[in-house]
Formats: sequence, structure tokens, C-alpha cells
Amino acid sequence: MTNLTKIAIIVGTKGRGSNMRNLIEHFQTDPDIHVTLVLAPSPDSPALEVANKFGVKTATFNAKDDKLPQKLAQKLSENNINFICLAGYLRLIPSNIVKEFTGRILNIHPALLPKFGGKGMYGMHVHNAVIEAKETESGCTIHYVNEEYDEGAILLQSKCEITPHDTPESLAQKVLKLEHETYPKAVKLALAKLSES
Ligand code: GRF
Repeated sequence: MTNLTKIAIIVGTKGRGSNMRNLIEHFQTDPDIHVTLVLAPSPDSPALEVANKFGVKTATFNAKDDKLPQKLAQKLSENNINFICLAGYLRLIPSNIVKEFTGRILNIHPALLPKFGGKGMYGMHVHNAVIEAKETESGCTIHYVNEEYDEGAILLQSKCEITPHDTPESLAQKVLKLEHETYPKAVKLALAKLSES
């Protein structure tokens, strides 16, 4: 592998792409890390427009395509991608990709896993459940991706306090701020761990 880390970010169908944007901006001045490709499961994903504005190459795929495993692997290989960040992608990643990118594929989740994770736990569903459960803290988790929803090994978490005045909406804002602070650090941490191994 070369020293340059070439990241592909996989966004969601409807996601704002704020974590994607944050990673692109953060690594713009890093000589060792380059956000090379943004992949989205729909041409309508709002994140694609943002990626285009930053001059980052984009591509789309059909998440229900039987040939997705091969097509995704080819797309990543054509672009010499050696690291993947999920940012709002809600489906499982094909197992060939999970295996090929062991230690090199991260996801961000808007709660403190292992609580409040799993299929269907995304966006406001998560923050509603956290408030409903009367938790006194929440935060974000960056974890390695495996073949289950939100179950890969935890790499980094950041926490925030939940006050009695917090609503799901105010909590969502607090957590998003933490996500933007934490995801770039987690990428660096994962790369440091790889270089130690
Ligand atoms: C974030 O809350 C992230 O934790 C989750 O999906 C959301 C994506 O938000 N995986 P954005 O599109 O990056 O703003």
C-alpha cells in the first residue's frame, strides 16, 4: 500500500451529508489523507451535490442490485480506495467488502453503542429513544463495520450530557456537533492503529 490514504465515503439516500462534508473539509489540508470518492445509493442524494462542489468524484449504485458486491468492489478498486467511511448509509455493507477492508471501514452512529443501535435505529429514532429512556448522557460512536448493524468493534466515542430541558431535537444538535469533532479523529486513530500493526 502507498502512504496516501484514499477514502471513499458512502452516504445515504436522503442524508444531508454533513459528516461527509466535514471529512472532506478536514482532510483537505492533510498530505496523507485524501477523500477520493463519494458513493451514494441514489442519484438524488443531497450529499452528491455537496461533494461535487468540493470537486470530489461521485458515483451511485443500486443497493438492491444482486451484483452489488462485485460492482462495489470494482468501483473501489478502480479508484485505488484503501479506506471507507460510512456517513449516513443505512444498509449492510456486502461481506466481500467488509472482509477486504478489515480495520479500514468505519461507521458513525449518533448514540453511545451498544445501546440504541441496530436495524431501524437511525436519525431521530435514536434521539427519541434516548430521551424516552431518560438517559442522562448520549453522544456518538465510531465503530468498525462488520456484517451486522452497529455491532462492529467500537473505536471511539464522545459523550454529552442530557439535561432535563433537552428534547430529541436539541439532543440531535448536540450529538451532530460531537460527530463532526470526533469522526476525523477516529479516522486518524484507525490509521495509527493500522500502522502499528
Ligand atoms: C449521522 O447522525 C450519523 O451518525 C448517522 O447518519 C447521520 C448522517 O448525517 N450514521 P449527515 O448526513 O452526515 O449529516
